[in-house]
Amino acid sequence: MTASTPGSATAGQAVLEMRGITMRFPGVLANDHVDFDVAPGEIHALFGENGAGKSTLMRVLYGLYQPDGGEIRLRGEPATITSPAAAIQQGLGMIHQHFMLVQTLTVAENVALGVKSARGPLTDLGRVSSRIRELSRTYGLEVDPDAYIWQLSVGERQRVEIIKALYREVSLLVLDEPTAVLTPQEVRDLFGVLKQLVANGMSLVFISHKVNEVLELSDRITVLRAGRKIATVAGRDATRDLLTQMMVGREIAAVEVRPDTHAGQAMLAIRDLRVIGDRGAEAVRRLSLEVRSGEIVGIAGVSGNGQRELAEAVAGLRQVAGGRVEIAGAGVTGLRPSGIRKAGLAYVPEERMRDALIGDFTVAENLILVGSADPAYSHWGFLREHPEAHHGPRTVRLAAGAAGGPAHPRHRRRGVGAHPPAPGPPARQRHRGPRHLRRPR
Ligand SMILES: Nc1ncnc2c1ncn2[C@@H]1O[C@H](COP(=O)(O)OP(=O)(O)OP(=O)(O)O)[C@@H](O)[C@H]1O
Ligand SMILES: [Mg+2]
Repeated sequence: MTASTPGSATAGQAVLEMRGITMRFPGVLANDHVDFDVAPGEIHALFGENGAGKSTLMRVLYGLYQPDGGEIRLRGEPATITSPAAAIQQGLGMIHQHFMLVQTLTVAENVALGVKSARGPLTDLGRVSSRIRELSRTYGLEVDPDAYIWQLSVGERQRVEIIKALYREVSLLVLDEPTAVLTPQEVRDLFGVLKQLVANGMSLVFISHKVNEVLELSDRITVLRAGRKIATVAGRDATRDLLTQMMVGREIAAVEVRPDTHAGQAMLAIRDLRVIGDRGAEAVRRLSLEVRSGEIVGIAGVSGNGQRELAEAVAGLRQVAGGRVEIAGAGVTGLRPSGIRKAGLAYVPEERMRDALIGDFTVAENLILVGSADPAYSHWGFLREHPEAHHGPRTVRLAAGAAGGPAHPRHRRRGVGAHPPAPGPPARQRHRGPRHLRRPR
């Protein structure tokens, strides 16, 4: 399996060499003559701020984009990688910022998807499941092969993605911002898994903009800024200041944050709340808490312990099995999401690309999704031609600014409430999504 693959490279020979990679998008030079290489058994971090070109460089490697210039060598041999399937065949794996799993299939079905079975067209899912259990045990990647993806927490989905790569026996795995969606405890677990992967001979590219993580994990760190490679430094020589300076191109003054401890009346009051999870078990058991005005309340816990169910119940997206929820003193238990919104609650879900945004719609269209029945936006059931004109130009301007440009030419596809298309390069290429709306920093 994986452990034996890098052994085929002669000692010290790079697993990957990328030379002079140039990748242009309309109006953006995303990669400008970038050099990057990975040694056997190393964790090499690609570090840089939003839009530096990290994902693009790795998407070129994974065959998702054909570069405008440059060359790629794998274990010393020139490589042409025209598709992800070709990349996987050459031992490359990539776990994207937004996972690429099919929600309505099980873990085992997702892992088997796209892998040719030795037994012809019929995949033996029993064998896939037992291989998954084996990999789970070896790497401490706990996951139930028979669970459906939609039932899993974000951390569990990430484990499925890693198992998928292991199942395909990749020798170089790229992880694109893998910690962005994880709790601190899950980050610890993930780092343990990554260290074990390299101990077994795999090479890793770890994309991140978090300096502490990069310092903790990496053998080497390559810094990208505005599409250019700034430097590659050894992990042991790197410091926080050096990396941040290289990332932004100037020194950063320390910012002092003073918490505002003034807290007023209860804006959210939850009493004895009970919520049933997707698998029929009680996910929230008699939980009570209060959030007062002026307060930030953190809810800590390993994912999969009821946080999502709690948030969904409070937002009216999941039935409440018992207890009571009040917003600003008014009971909202059992109300539909629209009623709860009217009471003053806004909800930003864990997986925004899946549950809150439609990637193919403009920023303005996304902004009016929940209010599309409002006469300002629609008339006799039809959307007005320029709903953004009615939205309050300031909001739309702000959102368009956050998205890095004006609202995009609209696609004539409609269907408010439809699922977003699978995130991926073709959609991005057509239409840059509202980047800053979907990414926690
Ligand atoms: N498919 C695309 N079409 C047009 N422009 C794109 C596309 N993908 C990326 N870009 C642009 O190329 C630049 C580099 O983007 P990239 O996604 O590689 O950055 P990144 O370093 O991964 O940033 P982030 O931390 O936000 O993920 C950005 O200006 C981005 O807007
Ligand atoms: Mg990226």
